[in-house]
Amino acid sequence: MVENGTPKHIAIIMDGNGRWAQKRLLPRALGHQAGVKAVRKIVEHCVKNGIEVLTLFAFSSENWRRPKEEVSLLMALFIKTLQKEIDTLDKNGVRMRFIGDRTAFPELLRETMVAGEAQTKNNTALTLVIAANYGGHWDMCQAFQSVIEKMAAGELNKQAITPQLIDEHLSTAGLPEPDLFIRTGGEQRVSNFLLWQLAYTELYFTTTLWPDFDQISLNDAINSFKSRQRRFGHTGEQITNKPD
Ligand code: IPE
Ligand code: IPE
Ligand code: MG
Repeated sequence: MVENGTPKHIAIIMDGNGRWAQKRLLPRALGHQAGVKAVRKIVEHCVKNGIEVLTLFAFSSENWRRPKEEVSLLMALFIKTLQKEIDTLDKNGVRMRFIGDRTAFPELLRETMVAGEAQTKNNTALTLVIAANYGGHWDMCQAFQSVIEKMAAGELNKQAITPQLIDEHLSTAGLPEPDLFIRTGGEQRVSNFLLWQLAYTELYFTTTLWPDFDQISLNDAINSFKSRQRRFGHTGEQITNKPD
């Protein structure tokens, strides 16, 4: 059995904050606050363990459908957390990148995102990608729009449209594909996360609610990844007998 090394890129749907709070008879807001603490721990763990890219789904393009109060609370928590954490992230060598449609966000949040990316742009320890107002459908649409614009300007012809070209126009351009996808909270669905990018990603689902997801939980997921054989269409024998 060929073992995988440590995943380079881990993408996580951080689900279950609301249920974590409900179980404790607390308001959902406290679940989201507890979720932020889990983010801090997982980011630190990824830095220490040499993970290159961590992508976290923070707010989906469908999450606007939640009650107004919860959406406002999430926006406020997002701004507060970014403002509070950015210097520590910077000190720890974390490079921040945001993916998603920012145009819908309050101005202060947009400014904080730009400032966070600028401050950390030369860091190399971990790239932390925050998916905010992100949807896989949105990502593909915006990629197609820029490709079509270039075609209209005569910069590209039809034959130039390859999977690699689409990759280069997605919001994740330049990042390695996710090796490991984790969803906490027990649901086994992708919920419009990285639809194109997950083509060959190893999927891992756990019933652990996001605020309870800790270093041990992450190691369990990484160990599950390491024990799998990634075949990318080949036979198992081709992978086992591959010369080093
Ligand atoms: C994930 O937790 C956080 C966001 C979507 C912002 P949820 O809020 O979806 O938690 P559950 O699924 O209701 O438990
Ligand atoms: C997915 O969680 C989005 C985030 C974690 C940000 P949801 O809780 O919104 O997913 P669904 O709606 O249950 O699929
Ligand atoms: Mg949920």
